[in-house]
Formats: sequence, C-alpha cells, structure tokens
Amino acid sequence: MKTLIKNGTIITAYEEFEGDILIEEEKIVDIGKDLAASCVKVDKIIDASGKLVFPGGVDQHTHYDAQGTVGDKNTAGYETTDNAIVGGTTTFVEFVPQEEGMGLIDSAEYRKKHRAEGKICVDYALHALVTDVKPAIFDEVEKLPEYGISTIKVFMAYPGSYLHADDGTLMRILEKSKNVGVTTFVHAENGEIIEFLRDECVRSGNTAPKYHYLSRPPVSESEAARRAIYLAKAAAAPLFIVHMTCEEALEELRIAKSGRLNVYGETCTHYLVTTKAALDNPDFMEAAKYICSPALRDEKDCEALWEALDSGLLSAVSSDHCGISLKEMKLAGKDDFTKVPNGAPGAGDRLNMVWTNGVAKGRISKTKFVEICATNPAKINGIYPRKGHIGIGSDADLVIFDPQYKGVVRQRDNPNGIDYNIFEGREQIGRPETVLLRGKVVVENARFTGKKGQGTFIKAKPYGACYRGL
Ligand code: URP
Ligand code: ZN
Ligand code: ZN
Ligand code: ZN
Repeated sequence: MKTLIKNGTIITAYEEFEGDILIEEEKIVDIGKDLAASCVKVDKIIDASGKLVFPGGVDQHTHYDAQGTVGDKNTAGYETTDNAIVGGTTTFVEFVPQEEGMGLIDSAEYRKKHRAEGKICVDYALHALVTDVKPAIFDEVEKLPEYGISTIKVFMAYPGSYLHADDGTLMRILEKSKNVGVTTFVHAENGEIIEFLRDECVRSGNTAPKYHYLSRPPVSESEAARRAIYLAKAAAAPLFIVHMTCEEALEELRIAKSGRLNVYGETCTHYLVTTKAALDNPDFMEAAKYICSPALRDEKDCEALWEALDSGLLSAVSSDHCGISLKEMKLAGKDDFTKVPNGAPGAGDRLNMVWTNGVAKGRISKTKFVEICATNPAKINGIYPRKGHIGIGSDADLVIFDPQYKGVVRQRDNPNGIDYNIFEGREQIGRPETVLLRGKVVVENARFTGKKGQGTFIKAKPYGACYRGL
C-alpha cells in the first residue's frame, strides 16, 4: 500500500517547506517536491493544499490507567484514547504504577496485556513508576532497557504514602539508572511543606478548593526541583523534571543548565493557559476540575513558561492526562479539598491549546511547536526518529492540520470519556483534520475513523536525549 500526501506545508522541528510525502505501508519512504509527477503508482492520494503537515504529537506524560494512585476508583482508561488521536497525538509515554505485589517489569507486562491491548488507539511507550519502594526495585532498574523501558519516575511529593520516594531512594534510582542509560523523571514537590500547610488549613476549617493552591506554594516546588538537581549532580546522572509550573522552579532549572548539568524539564498544557483563579470559583464542582498537582499558578507564571519554552529552557509540553471523573471521584472532596483526587484530562486538547495560545498568538514558531509537542518528547524517551519526526524511515504518524479553522473547544466534538473538559468553551484556532498512524488514516474530518486497539507498544532505547542534550 502506497499513500502520497501532496502539496502540504511540511513542518518539522528544524524547517518548514512545501512538499510531498510518500508512505509505503507504515513508513515514510520519500519526501520532496513534486513526488506526484515522478512517482510510480500510488494507492491513495491525500491533497494537503493549504494545510500544514507535521509529525503526530508525542505526549510523554499520561496517566490513562492510574490504578492505585488516585483512590479506590480508577481513571478513564485506554478505550478513551481516540480522544487523543483526534487531537493529533499519535504516541504516548504512559506511567505504569506498580500493580499490587508486582515489580516494575511485571507491572509493565501486565499493563500491556490486560489494560492496554485491544483498547489503545495510539502507539505507546512506557515509563516505570515506582509506587512501592522495596529493595528489589533497584535491581530491576538495570533490566528495564532490555524490556524496552528507558525512563523511570519517582514522586518526591506525597510523604507517608507508598508513592513517596525519599532522597535516599531518589539517589539510588539515579545511580542505578545512570548505569544502564535509563533517565530518571521526578515529580518535584516538597511533600513535607505541603503536608504541614494542608494540616494547618484543615485544622483551621479552611477546606475549600482554593486551599489546594495555598497549601502547595511555588516554594514547595522550587525547593524540590533544586534538591532533585543536587541529587542528580551528586549521582552524576541526568534528570528530567516533570510538570514544572512557576518562575521560581524555572530559576532552579536555569541555574542547573548554566552549570552544564544534564537537567531538563517540561510543563503541561493547563499551566500555560489556566491560572489558580479557577480554584476560587465558589461552585465546588467547577473549582474541583482544576485540582491537580503541582497547583495552577499566576498569569506571570504562564508567561514565564511560554518564554521558557521559546528559549529552550523547557523542553516539552505534556498533558499529564488523568481522566478523573467529577461526579464519581472528585466529589469525594466536597467538604475537604485534601480528599479531591489530583489530576485532570487534557491529552485531546494539548496540540490545539498550544497552537491556539502559542503559535496563533505569536509566542512560539511553528517549528518550535513541533519541537516541544513531538520531537523533543520522542528524543527524551528514546523513540526518536521512529516517532516525533518527518523523515525517511520514520513511522508515518502524521497530522494534516487546517490552520484556518476557527472554533470553540466542545466536549461533544471530541469526547474524552469523562464528565468534563477543563478547556471547554475556549477559543480554538486550527485543528487536526486528518491523522495517520503508521500509514493508516485514523482520523478524517476531525472524527475518529480508526479501530480501538490499533495502538502498539513501542520499545524505547536507553540513553535518551537527557544524556547528551537535545
Ligand atoms: O495532579 C496530578 N498531576 N495528577 C497526576 C499524577 C502526577 O502527579 O503526575
Ligand atoms: Zn518517488
Ligand atoms: Zn506528578
Ligand atoms: Zn502526572
């Protein structure tokens, strides 16, 4: 099967040019001008005149199935990933919490077989996620690359819970990971500061959603970011800091980079376009949607994050997608914000929100958009250039994007499988019209036309970009 995409404006992380893309089966086999004239017979021609063609998005931070980490009930699972692909994301790197009584690799295998397969609509790689710190975990780190996992995440937040990794644990993970080219990701928040402030709030009867951000101040994030950076320095290991939100934490990243440390960071869509004002809403059900950790910040932080993306201080934008339902799960915290499960969905809106508020508003260029939404995440996670790039030999994961589209985000247009969308009603400029996954058209006219279960596991290679620079 040969498909030709002709007359599009091709955008990669490096350049923008008019041209055609020839696809044979799952791969890109030719890129150039006027391939239509020179090509042998093709089975399908897609005319991309007036459209942009960029690599399918790579979302390196998703929690589609967060079992065990968000309370007794689970998040919306992989059957809802059609929402992400309609939004232009064709690959995830999903966090795998340990299944009860299992190690890192068993949990990944279990997840593939019993949770993802037959349901997932996008290709996916996996991050190991330490949620049960015990000695066997440290030895398992060395076996991750053989299995195709090249990243591991630990939580510095949530002390007293089985999720929490203390400094000693983080240090050992960094050390073990470095020996085999695995990159350590951290959720950097000082859990002790947060616990103290939360207890104070609850004791004083301050239980409304806004106390979520008041008990998770920027200093709790910047302190943990700095400490993680120092531990990485001590272990001489690379480090990736997830979901960075504020000026103070960015300053720690800047200092680390100016000291030539291999430290990188991402932010998430909601930190770029939403502020903590959303938690001041007196309607609990409205405010609770926006309870995530770290907390939302101020307008000035949103601007600092955009600047950090543009300058290269931050390397990527992820969704931190977490399909926590409002009526089933968040409602548990109606009388106490500390009982609201943290997290929000957003995989389906990541590209649209970054385009609308970034490219269309002149904050970042088109090539930067591709870099932070697809190429860098693929490099960081050891799946580049198979994913995140338009090049000969890359998987034909492509978005044909209509930059003229003007509309409004509506849950009904691209449902995410739960009972709200934190971007509902927002302006949207441009949209993915057609999406190809490994050469197959799976989205047409912005509607899912693929099959549930079409996604496959992608083995990640060790020594991702955090080892040598992006
Ligand atoms: O609030 C969030 N971010 N929930 C998802 C889990 C995590 O900490 O990334
Ligand atoms: Zn040709
Ligand atoms: Zn986190
Ligand atoms: Zn997360």
